[in-house]
Amino acid sequence: MDKKLIIAIDGYSSCGKSTFAKSIAKELNYIYIDSGAMYRAVTLYCMRENLVRENEMQTSAIVSELKNIKIAFRYNRPSDCYLTYLNSENVEDDIRSIEVASHVSRISMIPEVRERMVELQQQMGRDKGIVMDGRDIGTVVFPDAEIKIFMTASVEIRAKRRFDELAGKNIVTTIEEVRRNIVARDIADENRDISPLRRADDAIILDNSRMSVKEQMLWFMKIIHKLKDES
Ligand code: DC
Repeated sequence: MDKKLIIAIDGYSSCGKSTFAKSIAKELNYIYIDSGAMYRAVTLYCMRENLVRENEMQTSAIVSELKNIKIAFRYNRPSDCYLTYLNSENVEDDIRSIEVASHVSRISMIPEVRERMVELQQQMGRDKGIVMDGRDIGTVVFPDAEIKIFMTASVEIRAKRRFDELAGKNIVTTIEEVRRNIVARDIADENRDISPLRRADDAIILDNSRMSVKEQMLWFMKIIHKLKDES
């Protein structure tokens, strides 16, 4: 397909959105943007500045710090991936920690944080040819995206996948802890007042509980071909 598209992928945490979105971006030679990484980077910044702790969050200080938070994605040839940079520092590994995961839902509930991230995300999509994954991409960031996919998978399968991913990075945890974190994030994502996780009316559902990445790509290519035939 010659015309460049915006592909919006939303869904629950740890259901393989980024793996799927990266494969699509590679196949179509598009840019991939992990919007969750942006919320994680803001969270890491706040943790380092002591603006967020277990039971306490300094919302107004976080909002006034937003102007000092610069987030960028840079392509890394050896890993063939886009890495997340926070104020010019590569934070790709740090933002994946369980501590960041446990604070990020609260940070991403702050309206000013969302406004700033949405603005940046829309700028990144200006030239199209982009695959972005997150929670509100098809509903808020790119309501006119040509393809919207809403991903889901069972909690058990998501916990197992996330646990394996963390174990692969030598991060010590238990399946139960990972499961609890996923359930808590589902509840927070679905119930926050601003931009809650919900399927856009025109999004196609993909339940990948029992699908390999290859099967998901075959499913996606059918959608692309159908769109091409219709245009
Ligand atoms: O996709 P992820 O698990 O890395 O996202 C981290 C957190 O950021 C998740 O708890 C919800 C939040 N998030 C969001 O609110 N909106 C997005 N577009 C992407 C992520």
